[in-house]
Amino acid sequence: MLTRRELMRFGLLGGAAALLPLEQLVSLASALSAAPHPANNAFGGISPGSPPVVPFSLPLRIPPVLRPVATDADTDYYELTMRPAPAQILPGLLTTIWGYDGLYPGPTIRAQQGRRVVVRQVNNVAEPTAVHLHGGKIAPEHDGHPIDLIPPGGYRDYVYPNRQPGLTMWYHDHANHQAGPHIYRGLAGFYLLEGDDEAGFGLPSGSFDVPLMLQDRILNPDGSLSYPGYVHGFYGDTTIVNGVAQPRFDVAARKYRLRLLNAANHREFNLAFTPAVPTFQIATDGGLLPAPVPRPSTMFLAPAERIELVVDFSGVPQGSRIVLRDTLGTARTAPVMAFDVTRAAADDSRLPGSLRPLPSFPPPSRVRNFDLHFDEGRQMWVINGKGFDPARVDARPRLNSTEVWQFTNLSDLMHPMHLHLAHFQILTRRGGAPPPAYEAGVKDTVAVGPFETVRVLASFTGFTGRYVFHCHRLEHEDWDMMGQMEVLSDERPDGVGGGVP
Ligand code: C2O
Ligand code: CU
Ligand code: CU
Repeated sequence: MLTRRELMRFGLLGGAAALLPLEQLVSLASALSAAPHPANNAFGGISPGSPPVVPFSLPLRIPPVLRPVATDADTDYYELTMRPAPAQILPGLLTTIWGYDGLYPGPTIRAQQGRRVVVRQVNNVAEPTAVHLHGGKIAPEHDGHPIDLIPPGGYRDYVYPNRQPGLTMWYHDHANHQAGPHIYRGLAGFYLLEGDDEAGFGLPSGSFDVPLMLQDRILNPDGSLSYPGYVHGFYGDTTIVNGVAQPRFDVAARKYRLRLLNAANHREFNLAFTPAVPTFQIATDGGLLPAPVPRPSTMFLAPAERIELVVDFSGVPQGSRIVLRDTLGTARTAPVMAFDVTRAAADDSRLPGSLRPLPSFPPPSRVRNFDLHFDEGRQMWVINGKGFDPARVDARPRLNSTEVWQFTNLSDLMHPMHLHLAHFQILTRRGGAPPPAYEAGVKDTVAVGPFETVRVLASFTGFTGRYVFHCHRLEHEDWDMMGQMEVLSDERPDGVGGGVP
């Protein structure tokens, strides 16, 4: 059982939760640690297969941009309510989702580098939730730690300083053992931070800057969600973009900036435009690359990774259709979405020859290894043999230091490893090879292939305190492939926190 001190340390006594008596907090925390396996959660049943979709029958939806409820000299204030609501995912059927403001995906928050954002998150769903801003450099008490929960009926104000270069982030649920089912129900949205340097690049903007959230689902014949999530993960049989099954998008014959996010629970995508169109990758998870990288063939995207592309439809005859396909999909799931070139449009956007220089990280102060494997006895995924324990700290990096984190995958499944707070650069992949140019930017999530070893150079800046790191296949994360780091003040002498690797 957790003590009040532990609850405070984990931030469970912050925000609205501070108003609850200790007994309720403890039962909240232990209800979650004893939470049922995700597959036992109350969904609409286990479907034998979703109702079939004729690809490209529904138009793409672009999530609305959220308007602040108030602004002052340095801060924009927003409010979002998590609640159940109907959504049209399949043609002719309604699906009850859980959405931020009842929307799936949630409304997009557009923020400016250097301007603070405060989001009041109200929980009107039936279970405790935590909201994490993936990719953000955020104080630990605002980071959405898995046991730092908003009880049903409660709320919490999350503070995002936005003191970091521009990037495509996303906010999503992070409740302990429940991130998989909660995100599957719809609790995810975009948060686009525009960097100070961005206006000068002249990239496609406004309605030509389009976020695309890629997922998969299984639905019951009545449209309700089916969640056969189990510890190894699962693949849905219906490909979803921005909450719509295999949508079509009417585009102009010009350049677009497409921000692709894999927000699937488990599925990896290997994406290709057919027929091919000129495609340049301009950003990784952590923001703009030093220079655009041509992507003439397929583009791999692991869960939680983002790539930003400039795609040029200007040479495509009006009336033609470009299909974005997943080469790893089946006949049914491979068509992801269609771009129908329907009109001409002026285009004064540019694709500059160079973008944002890479940050220079100081040399690493140490190397840590993390073995990834499945524990057959306990039937769960582990890091260095251990499941998640919020009372344990697995690594204590010092603030403003860099470290080499080496992920050694001892299993035959890919694990997309994600660090909160820290951003990193990939040093080496399988066989010690350096990453390809399109992966040689700033990242927060890295796909570690079957039996592959990946080394990254991680930079611990911004805040001290406790953060999680984990596999972003959500069923692996929930069961139990997550560790915890504590970033220590750089004023402390070496060796403090000794005894912890
Ligand atoms: Cu996308 Cu721990 O998060
Ligand atoms: Cu994160
Ligand atoms: Cu995994």
